Amino acid sequence: MLTLENVTVRFGGLTAVKDVSFSMGTDQVLGLVGPNGAGKTTLFNAISGLVRPGGGRVMFNGVDLTRKPLHSRAHHGLGRTFQIPQPMHELTVRENLLVAQRFGAGKVDHKRLDEIMDFMDLGDQADRNAATELALQELKRLEVAKAMATEPRMLLLDEVLAGLETNGKRHFTARLQDMHKRFKIGILIIEHDIETVSSLCHRVVVLNFGEILADGTPDAVFRDPEVVRSYTGGGEDA
Ligand SMILES: Nc1ncnc2c1ncn2[C@@H]1O[C@H](COP(=O)(O)OP(=O)(O)O)[C@@H](O)[C@H]1O
Ligand SMILES: [Mg+2]
Repeated sequence: MLTLENVTVRFGGLTAVKDVSFSMGTDQVLGLVGPNGAGKTTLFNAISGLVRPGGGRVMFNGVDLTRKPLHSRAHHGLGRTFQIPQPMHELTVRENLLVAQRFGAGKVDHKRLDEIMDFMDLGDQADRNAATELALQELKRLEVAKAMATEPRMLLLDEVLAGLETNGKRHFTARLQDMHKRFKIGILIIEHDIETVSSLCHRVVVLNFGEILADGTPDAVFRDPEVVRSYTGGGEDA
């Protein structure tokens, strides 16, 4: 169970995340949506330890992670991807996954990495250079594979589906659904596309100007007039 209690993040005079509270179990796929600049990535950074909240708490399975370093969150079972894929240069796909596995899971298990590569359709790319020889689709799958290699109980995915064409998006969405069911990994995903969120997520939380505007089923949330207004008038969609 991931629990956020009044999480607040400030950058100088700007409050990027304001008093955000919600809980989710590893049995959920939760979509985090909202206009550009709403604070979604900043909230991920606060959960995963890249920024320190100015107020509030981040709890995971009863442990207070708010002031714990990055690697300790991985050991507690929190994994994440980045909005801009960050493969390690000069390393192959397999080597990237090895580093992630050692960092997060604290051990090397080649059989498990083969499974993960097969699962994310990267088996044929294992020995290719991650920085120079992969297409965008493959880089996005590598991001998710790296996060999986840390053996998370809960995975934070930052726009891993953005920029993919319709078929690629559907295929990737099905993979994430599979991952959630087969490996019992909770998913918190930032995604703009309403159709994708509706098909993938049990629940949607809408952020607007750093605050929670709505929290509920996709059906209810996307019919909420305030949410519709924030989507059409509150900012530009990336
Ligand atoms: N490191 C930072 N320093 C200063 N301002 C930041 C920083 N990161 C994000 N911001 C600001 O915080 C707000 C939220 O940004 P972000 O979390 O990236 O939004 P989203 O992911 O929802 O598009 C924006 O106004 C952004 O410019
Ligand atoms: Mg973002």
